Amino acid sequence: MKIVRSPYVLQRMTDRLRRAGRTIGFVPTMGALHEGHLSLIRRARRETDRVVVSVFVNPIQFDQRSDYARYPRPLARDAALARSAGVDILFIPGVRSLYPTDFQTTVDVTRLSQRWEGACRPGHFRGVATVVAKLFNVVHPDLVYVGEKDAQQARLIQQLARDLNWGIRVRTMPTVREPDGLAMSSRNARLSPSERRRALVVVEALQAGRRLIECGERRRAVILRSMRGVMHRAPGTRLEYVAVVDPATLDPVDHVQGTARLLIAAWVGRVRLIDTVLVKARGS
Ligand code: PAJ
Repeated sequence: MKIVRSPYVLQRMTDRLRRAGRTIGFVPTMGALHEGHLSLIRRARRETDRVVVSVFVNPIQFDQRSDYARYPRPLARDAALARSAGVDILFIPGVRSLYPTDFQTTVDVTRLSQRWEGACRPGHFRGVATVVAKLFNVVHPDLVYVGEKDAQQARLIQQLARDLNWGIRVRTMPTVREPDGLAMSSRNARLSPSERRRALVVVEALQAGRRLIECGERRRAVILRSMRGVMHRAPGTRLEYVAVVDPATLDPVDHVQGTARLLIAAWVGRVRLIDTVLVKARGS
């Protein structure tokens, strides 16, 4: 596994690979790698000739400086995990190499950025779209692998790739969970033992919504009431949003038809968690 820090050097390497006819799979990450990330890497390993993984805690997508400062950065461990998962190139750029002091160009995926995470975290998706666009220009992958856990981000990256004509295929992979159901996240490490137990309420709320839909409930108001009810039973958690949305547009749906996506964002202590499930309505 090669570790590359310079965007310029990586661009030359990936150019050479492409000229030699190799397909390139790419997994963008912010590091603190866990099984969720590794599942994307393994899929890329199976489907493409060369796997590039980036580890970059992207300052411009954090709406709170303290969250950026506290984000875990276990680089040696990440490199070891990446190597054992079969990564060919690990890209670890410095902040200044991606954002020199005169940096001023950003990318907006307008409609998809407005709701949910975009509304709660101003500027977040501009930061994500901008860094992903830059990484695409450096790596020029054939396939990029993203996680369903960040469903709005996954849709945004898909839209970005399409809108700006990269010709990159985006694969969205299922959420990898802890044995008790909590979605794996680099932020889980910041939960205290009691917060870790309380965090499960996020999964329980999603399950309550899923059960209702599977039992034939179609009305958004009823589904949301049930999910909010579960959240309110848990002390020390603060619900940011729950939503029942169309999986493609992420717009709220009044009545569930076919497939719906349930979204949730909540604070457990000082840690912000998001999770989602896709639910197929029975008989549709
Ligand atoms: P990060 O949070 O490190 O996530 C990197 C990728 O791993 C994303 O596509 C995310 O959806 C996926 N992922 C995270 N947890 C997962 C889980 N439990 N199961 C499956 N996949 C999971 O998302 C980012 O970084 C950044 O915003 C980034 C896209 C790299 C831009 O900076």
